Order: sequence, then C-alpha cells, then structure tokens
Amino acid sequence: MSLQRMSQPGLRIFSTGAGISAESGIPTFRGEEGYWTVGAKEYHPQELATHYAFTQMPAEVWAWYLYRRAVCRAAQPNTGHLALVEAEKLLGDQFLLVTQNVDGLHLRAGNSPGRTFEVHGNIDYFRCAENCTPEHYPLGEGFLPFAKGQKLSPEQQALLRCPRCGTWARPHVLWFDECYNEEHFRYDSSRSAAAKAVTLVSVGTSGATNLPVQMGFIAAQRGAFLVDINPQPNPFSQLAEQQGGRWLRESASTGLVRVVKAIQGG
Ligand code: APR
Repeated sequence: MSLQRMSQPGLRIFSTGAGISAESGIPTFRGEEGYWTVGAKEYHPQELATHYAFTQMPAEVWAWYLYRRAVCRAAQPNTGHLALVEAEKLLGDQFLLVTQNVDGLHLRAGNSPGRTFEVHGNIDYFRCAENCTPEHYPLGEGFLPFAKGQKLSPEQQALLRCPRCGTWARPHVLWFDECYNEEHFRYDSSRSAAAKAVTLVSVGTSGATNLPVQMGFIAAQRGAFLVDINPQPNPFSQLAEQQGGRWLRESASTGLVRVVKAIQGG
C-alpha cells in the first residue's frame, strides 16, 4: 500500500521518540552513555529518572539532568525535525505533534508550541518540586556548559529553587515512578486527538512508554491509517502492518521526507 492516504483531509498525528534525535547526535536514553556515577555507585537512567531518586539526592539528580540538557542544547535539529516543520506548514490545524523527547528540538526547529505536545516534558524547564504552582520556568542560559561528572556548586544549588515558595525546583520531565496528567503532559488531549486522527505516524520509538502505545491502539480502533518509521521492528511497525498501514524501515529523516511528499500529493 502506498502513502496516498497521507494526503486525505483530517487530523494527522506524528508521534516521535528518541530515534528522531539520534540523527542529531543525542544518545538514546537506554544506551551506554546513560550511566551516571554518584560516589562509588553507578546508576542506570531508570533509577535516576525517578521521583524517589530526587527525594534521596536532589543535587546529584539535577547534575545528571543539567549534563543531559547541555548535550541537548549543543545538538541541532536535523532533516527529520525540519520535515515536521514543513508538515505543520502544510497542514495547519490538521497537524499535531506528540513527542516523548524532552530535548526541545522540535520547538527549536520551528514547530509551534500550540501543536506540539511534549508528553514527557522539556529538559530546558523546571518547576516547583512541591507543586505549589503548575507554572514551569525556563532554565535559560544558566548552567551551560555542564560537564559529565560535574557537581553542583552551592551557588548553583541556590538557583535551583522554586521562584514562588523557595523549596527545591525539579526538572520539568515525567519520571518513571510518576503518572501522566493533563496539566503538565497533555494526557487527555493526546488520547482524544488519537480518537480523531485520520493518520498516525510514529517515528523512532521503541513503544516502551504507555501514552504513545495507547494512542496507537486508539487510532487503530478508529480505523486511522498507521505509518511507522523505524529501522527496527517495534510494536508500532507490527500494528501498522496488521492494520493495512505502512512500516517504513528506514531512518526518521528519510521516512519523514517521504511522508511530507505524500502529504503534498507527490
Ligand atoms: N531513525 C528512526 N528510528 C531510529 C533511529 C533513526 N535514525 N535510530 C534509532 N531509532 C529507533 C530505534 O530502533 C528504537 O526503536 O528509535 C527507537 C528508540 O527507542 P528508545 O531509546 O526506547 O526511545 P523512545 O521510544 O523514545 O523511549 C524513550 O522512554 O525512558 C523513557 O521518558 C523516556 O522518553 C523516553 C522514552
């Protein structure tokens, strides 16, 4: 089956994961780069990216995030990100981007905040760890660069405070021991969008997280056309093939350029 259905009117959702940013040089979450040493102990990302770890060692968890954020800030959007900017220009309010990536590259590439749901947050922002306000604040140009293994100075620690109540601030990201919600992560909006989509294109995700997988199943149940772009098989490629959709077994940039051509009717 061709990608012809991409040009049919209606809401077209793009759901992206770490694979799209791999071409910008950002290491994937679960790769070897992810390990972090605190004292004599090595931590796996799945241990550090937790509310529990933050309650035990906030300065160390912050140091890990500030290092990862510096890596993201040094990276540039790639052809895949730019293809999605083009897709939004072509589709306007029939376009929605739902990303698991916290690297902020979609917004830096030029997708609009209104049509980009960052469902795992954004590493460039912080908010009150006690949730005294839902407000989130930009880290701005502070803390850059931040080297691997660097420790927070007391002056830096003093800056990582909630501007409203003065308690610890935390990174504005979804941790492994936390649940999605609408307030910070557009959970309900993402699910209801999936129910209205005529096509859902998943890009560079292993399908390990809950909301994107739910969205795939909701869209499939409603008869949406499913496309998966990923060199490796994954739950979305399987679902797309089962539902008469397409698995583009290639890189995010190659696949997205092809999909944008199909939207233009090419
Ligand atoms: N183009 C397309 N896909 C690629 C590319 C590429 N150039 N390179 C790698 N991939 C694919 C891999 O085959 C894999 O399926 O990207 C996927 C990356 O999978 P993960 O690292 O599991 O990333 P993701 O699905 O985004 O899940 C990470 O889980 O731990 C949480 O919150 C964290 O958002 C993060 C999410």
